[in-house]
Amino acid sequence: MDSLLIKGGVPLHGDVQISGAKNAVLPIMAATLLTAERCVIRNVPDLSDVKFMGRILESLGCTVKFEGDTLTVQAHRIKGHGDYDLIRKMRGSICILGPLLGRLRKADVSQPGGCVIGTRPIDLHLKGLRALGAKIVIEEGYVRAKAPRLTGTEIFLGGRSGPTVLGTANVMSAAVLAEGVTIIESAACEPEVSDLAHFLNSMGAKIQGAGSPTVTITGVKELHGAEHEVIPDRIEAATFAIAAAMTNGEITINGARPEHLNAVIDKLREAGVKLERRGPALVVKRGGVLKPVDVTTLPYAGFPTDVQAQMMALMCLTPGISIITERIFESRFGHVAELGRLGADISIEGPSAIVKGGKRLSGAPVMASDLRASAALVIAGLTAKGTTQVNRIYHLDRGYEKIDAKLKQLGGRIERIKET
Ligand code: UD1
Repeated sequence: MDSLLIKGGVPLHGDVQISGAKNAVLPIMAATLLTAERCVIRNVPDLSDVKFMGRILESLGCTVKFEGDTLTVQAHRIKGHGDYDLIRKMRGSICILGPLLGRLRKADVSQPGGCVIGTRPIDLHLKGLRALGAKIVIEEGYVRAKAPRLTGTEIFLGGRSGPTVLGTANVMSAAVLAEGVTIIESAACEPEVSDLAHFLNSMGAKIQGAGSPTVTITGVKELHGAEHEVIPDRIEAATFAIAAAMTNGEITINGARPEHLNAVIDKLREAGVKLERRGPALVVKRGGVLKPVDVTTLPYAGFPTDVQAQMMALMCLTPGISIITERIFESRFGHVAELGRLGADISIEGPSAIVKGGKRLSGAPVMASDLRASAALVIAGLTAKGTTQVNRIYHLDRGYEKIDAKLKQLGGRIERIKET
């Protein structure tokens, strides 16, 4: 497996271009299953998860073509039974369930497993689809769903930890072809859900209120092909902003939508980081001495769980005590032990990490446990004394387009070591 070798201590400077959002493009790709006509998706990031979703669509019978950052999918004749092993390997592939059910009234999708950040149940997805009239059983590792008719209804999708992003995507994608009106209450408000709704509406769906907790979907008979440009990746933008602050550099983040980053910008400002909007760009520099902050992850528009690990890396450099509380995923602290190898002083108490920061980190070999944990280790390595080797970086390639090349362009000393 490839690894990254990082020599720390160089401030990042220059411009970086943000790619399309992984978490937006995956459900949008799945939604192309809803029509037999051709769909063209632009600003598609070159990520292994995206390629993987392409293979899943092909295994269902779609024609899939990647050309630069444009993806064309035609789901002319498809089947409702996906390749078990292919689907099982990527948690995000659960978002094919709603579109398959909508189009074919039938879907067999392997049940996604848990992962290092928590158990990751799908009870809310199933609750929503059952409310639309689907009969669903879990059998031989498959979620088997059938719905001779899908009928609009009122569905409450709030769970223990708040709304569900992919659950909202699944229910929305099935309800667009249901008879009558569906109202989802406690829907996820993430920009990726709104982006999916824009795509579905451009295919002829009638969705109102996406991006708010109440989404109203008036079913239509069929959808048609459409073109769509994916929103920029707010998590990638936040990661670069934190990297600039950590290395005491100054970077201009282009192509991001700062309005999707309000909670992150607010916390970074509280921590003493200077962030300035210049038109569509965001200019980030450290400013002065960093200040400790308390952060709690929450559903959108709160502080994203996908930026928790990176924020923790920043707090490791910040003199004083910061408390970071994880409210979305119960075991999302895989990066704590690895940051510890770099010399960080972090202890876990229940859902909170207590970070005693202020010491310079020192390079060491570390192991990435999940996507965002990997990003935190990379940016920590950029500031650490000496060399940090981040192993198992396939996680990073799942969700950050060319992160090593982008950091190098900003002056970071980072090399990819290919496994021989
Ligand atoms: C998506 C994102 C992921 C992000 C997460 C939260 C994608 C591909 N992934 O994941 O990067 O970290 O949103 O912003 O878009 N839950 C239930 N029952 C369910 C579904 C979820 O209890 O049926 C719980 C989860 O365990 C978790 C919380 O709800 O505690 C939020 O999870 P959810 O929003 O569903 O995450 P994903 O959509 O899987």
